[in-house]
Amino acid sequence: MKYITLIEQMTLEEKASLMSGKDFWTTQSIERLGIRSLYLADGPHGIRRQAAAADHLGLNASIQATCYPTAATVANSWNVELGERIGEYLGAEAASQQVNVLLGPGINMKRNPLCGRNFEYFSEDPYLAGKMAAAYIRGIQSHGISACVKHFAVNNQEERRMSIDTIVDERALREIYLTAFEIAVQEGEPKTLMSSYNLLNGSYTNENIHIMKDILRDEWGYKGVLVTDWGGSNDRLAGLLAGNELEMPTTAGETNAEIIRAIQSGEIVEEGLDECVDRMLELIFTTEITAGSPREFAVEKHHKVAQWAAEESVVLLKNEGNILPLRKGVKLAVIGDFAKNPRYQGAGSSIVNPTIINNILDYLDQSDLTSIGYEPGFERQGKNNKKKLNRACALAQKADVVLLYMGLDEAYETEGLDRRSIEIPGNQINLLHALYKVNSNIVAVLACGSVVEIPWIHKIKGLIHGYLPGQAGAGAIGRILTGEVNPSGKLAETYPLCYEDTPSYHHFPGKEVSVEYRESIYMGYRYYDTAIKNVLFPFGYGLSYTQYEYSNLEVSSKGVTFELTNTGDIPGMEIVQLYVGCKSQEIFRAVKELKGFAKVRLAAGETRKVTLPFDDKTFRYFNVKTNKWEIEAADYEISIGASSADIRLADTLFVEGTGAPPPYDKDMLPAYYSGKANNVSSTEFEYLLGYKIPVSKWDRSQPLGYNDTIAQCQYAKGRSARFVYHLIAFVHWFLIKTGKRSTANLIMMSIYHMPFRGVARMTGGIVNMPMLDGILMMVNGHFFRGLSHVLKEKSRMVSIAQKNHIDRKIP
Ligand code: BGC
Repeated sequence: MKYITLIEQMTLEEKASLMSGKDFWTTQSIERLGIRSLYLADGPHGIRRQAAAADHLGLNASIQATCYPTAATVANSWNVELGERIGEYLGAEAASQQVNVLLGPGINMKRNPLCGRNFEYFSEDPYLAGKMAAAYIRGIQSHGISACVKHFAVNNQEERRMSIDTIVDERALREIYLTAFEIAVQEGEPKTLMSSYNLLNGSYTNENIHIMKDILRDEWGYKGVLVTDWGGSNDRLAGLLAGNELEMPTTAGETNAEIIRAIQSGEIVEEGLDECVDRMLELIFTTEITAGSPREFAVEKHHKVAQWAAEESVVLLKNEGNILPLRKGVKLAVIGDFAKNPRYQGAGSSIVNPTIINNILDYLDQSDLTSIGYEPGFERQGKNNKKKLNRACALAQKADVVLLYMGLDEAYETEGLDRRSIEIPGNQINLLHALYKVNSNIVAVLACGSVVEIPWIHKIKGLIHGYLPGQAGAGAIGRILTGEVNPSGKLAETYPLCYEDTPSYHHFPGKEVSVEYRESIYMGYRYYDTAIKNVLFPFGYGLSYTQYEYSNLEVSSKGVTFELTNTGDIPGMEIVQLYVGCKSQEIFRAVKELKGFAKVRLAAGETRKVTLPFDDKTFRYFNVKTNKWEIEAADYEISIGASSADIRLADTLFVEGTGAPPPYDKDMLPAYYSGKANNVSSTEFEYLLGYKIPVSKWDRSQPLGYNDTIAQCQYAKGRSARFVYHLIAFVHWFLIKTGKRSTANLIMMSIYHMPFRGVARMTGGIVNMPMLDGILMMVNGHFFRGLSHVLKEKSRMVSIAQKNHIDRKIP
């Protein structure tokens, strides 16, 4: 242990005090030993340091900071260098705001397009997500502070995120859900990592020895600190034993006392705690913000970086008849509420209070383009408005080109909740149909952070997907519209034709208790390509104003080289993608997987030799029999693509294997071997899992406990609890009916789906566990007994607090 001398000077109470927060955002300090408090702040695409009231849902304002494009957006740049640069700027801003730990990047896989937090995550592909995340981490930590990779792991939905049990087979866990973390940990070396709220195959991730010890620490060699997600600690001792150093936010010492008691009674050994303290001290001493570090950052310069990030990340999806870039002198009608009030980030804990906000109208005023006017055209919150629609059509009639800003409003993509559909609100589609009748030269600009259905694609000539491009997004899109910037983004996720086509369609967001990942390794393009399913836009797809030619592929045991030529007459950047597929049928696999990529800048007419090396992940698969990564001796198809569906060069390479026995009995897994794994039977999934699928419905006969949710009050024994449930449901319904969707969302995420345990974990000591016991008695039908328990415990707490106050006053 590095800090053994210091640890020896600490009392047991002092050691335990470091194991949870001092308040909502800071850790405990021990002044007499020079141990300072750390400040943790969200993350991930800007700093959210709250100056006054604290919350983890993005409710109260924070100090101004640059709002960079969200991760879902930057992933489309496929530019690792850009990721590192954004990280550096984030790190500089964090240091200027005296933030020691920046709570990001978030790197969960996009299992399903409905996940409310997809905008905060990079990709459906673990390799791309891992590489981008590692770059962010390196950048952030270059300022001496800590990045905090989150949410470890398999937190792929927001619905019931604090109580859902994710049932996933070991191979999918390793190959799909953990690989991005593995790359981030090994190549980025983050100093902190946040556990997720959910359970994984029956145990809370924060207490899960398999992922926290066997994999994270022992296999990947992670040396940093583990932080719980806010209020995500279930059993403090189990968390500690799995290696969790820091429970956030504060529990006013309640769980520290649990640790002390467990050590005093011999239930856990003090050396275990010392190791956690050692890692905490390393974090504290290596993330000190030096007194002289600048308190200000260059707002304009950072804004420009945010614009650069957006310029590389915006994706051009359609360009019929080369309607784009817009020619000078073309008369433009700008339509759509999002043009004036841009949608540039998502909702929840990642919300940033931006330093500057650009919109396209201001940009057009200063550009060579001719705008003949602006009309909102629709109500942002989804209501039909005939007057607005008619005014927009009247304007469109006079224009050469209609620039239509469409998208999802702030209430759609949010932490704590999943979307209900992947459609764009109907009133916007109605507007599009109406506009099409008067002017068919429509260029749509989409603003949303995740996949949407686009069945209306034939009604538009141009489609620019800005995703959530951050505070400088409007300028970036403007420069792409004029052609000052040649678009170079490509999708980091697949756009299916319709939601029903997605591989997890039948198993998202799961039932009451659990969600079964029956599709196993077949996520995103891995499924669509293997099951041969048509999609609207494949993974890795994006257009440019120039064209590229691929030639002269050479494959060796070390990697590939080929030539790339820009055959057009303007400079551009092409994202080249290396896919590998195993030709043997011995082990079920996706036909191809991304194993390398690069973004190559080329002048008009220029040719470059591109090299993409193989690495330790190129040929491996996880063998559940040997419990190790193995390589199958086989021929492998090595392809170079402009997207996953547009393979330009290919060759075959034989690779020696590691000689492991095949892990499966093929006959037991017909759906997986066919790749058509979107609705696998229970028997087949159980065979893959290796254990019986757990019961997925709430047991309504049992009294409610710590880990049951407020929503379960609907069948509680206590009448008062059932009343509370109906009251919440009514308020939610009423808010939706009256158009207050964001407030309705808040009720869902912060009350409805909250487990009872959260009441104690998130109130900073106002409600402690004994009081919660009383509340549960009331919920379970013993109202007066419970009430008296709560009151007795409350008065006990008050008298302890008063006594402590008096003791502190006496010298
Ligand atoms: C989110 C985390 C966030 C934390 C602190 C939680 O609700 O899941 O991503 O870092 O709050 O705001």
